[in-house]
Amino acid sequence: MSAADPSLWDAEAPAFDEAPDHGLLDEGVRAAWRELLLGVLPPAPAGVADLGCGTATLALLLGEEGYRVEALDFSPAMVALATAKLDAAPPTVRSLVTVREGNAADPGLAPASVDVVLCRHVLWALPDPVSVVRRWVAALRPGGRLVLVEGDWSTGAGLTARRCAQIVGESCTRVEVRRLPEPALWGREVTDERYLVVALP
Ligand SMILES: C[S@@+](CC[C@H](N)C(=O)[O-])C[C@H]1O[C@@H](n2cnc3c(N)ncnc32)[C@H](O)[C@@H]1O
Repeated sequence: MSAADPSLWDAEAPAFDEAPDHGLLDEGVRAAWRELLLGVLPPAPAGVADLGCGTATLALLLGEEGYRVEALDFSPAMVALATAKLDAAPPTVRSLVTVREGNAADPGLAPASVDVVLCRHVLWALPDPVSVVRRWVAALRPGGRLVLVEGDWSTGAGLTARRCAQIVGESCTRVEVRRLPEPALWGREVTDERYLVVALP
């Protein structure tokens, strides 16, 4: 089973939110992600496509902040959990966030239809990432941006920041990489490479 196989992620889904950075159940970790994302996103109610949304933790966090979020994932189990969380959210959030099954590599977004493509911990798992990022950039409105969070993890999985910047640089003119070593984001000390990429076409 590879990371490109939805059944792997179906198996991960039941315990997925137990990791501090996944479920954001700890208020301190949640606040750290809120601050990080709000610091790099355009103001609400910008439109965000959250591709490979998992259980939609980030999508709901942004919905709470007034963003319009279209979230998708190819794992039926992740989408089921995301939908359950969305159903339990306040009506204001439910009116701003949608969740559906879909392929992050080819999400079917109309050209120039979103302000932000947000993707956390997914690009590393996608075949042909250069073509994928090109597709994402085509979905951005003028003034839009890519916001990616990736890592080169101690597990052996992932993507180096250098390689990620090269991939994104194939279709973006401004690519900024920020390292994310802060324990507040992960709920513990980390020693592997974790980073944020903000890129403009
Ligand atoms: C490590 S999890 C990250 C989830 C979420 N972005 C987050 O940060 O909480 C990776 C997610 O990407 C999804 N995924 C992987 N490849 C995908 C693809 N081609 N299309 C849609 N979702 C995909 C998996 O199902 C899984 O939910």
